[in-house]
Amino acid sequence: MIGRLNHVAIAVANLAKAAAVYRDTLGAEVSAPQALREHGVTVVFVELANAKIELMAPLGDASPIAGFVAKNPAGAIHHLCYEVDDIGAARDALQAAGARVLGDGEPKIGAHGKPVLFLHPKDFCGTLVELEQA
Ligand code: CO
Repeated sequence: MIGRLNHVAIAVANLAKAAAVYRDTLGAEVSAPQALREHGVTVVFVELANAKIELMAPLGDASPIAGFVAKNPAGAIHHLCYEVDDIGAARDALQAAGARVLGDGEPKIGAHGKPVLFLHPKDFCGTLVELEQA
């Protein structure tokens, strides 16, 4: 069902510092910061040859990652994103297998303008999983 790894998202408190680590220490191509108000995060995209790294920091008082960053002040992996061909079919198959889809189960438009869903970490080896329609 799942295809390519699309991105690994790392939540951090200080986005400029995290971007500098990837740009200056690791020598990666790093985008300018983008505020995604509807998602409550500011993101920097790191382009690798085979996948992306998304560095994200809380934006606004109600950011969904505020608690996670408070618990992980040095930063931590927040989720993995896998590509699927048909997000509705993937959701139906996963729910039929007993997996929990977060929210109301309807795909939302994610950071790349494509439909996404999130899956409960307890059903996927302790890792929050995002599915993105390729
Ligand atoms: Co993501």
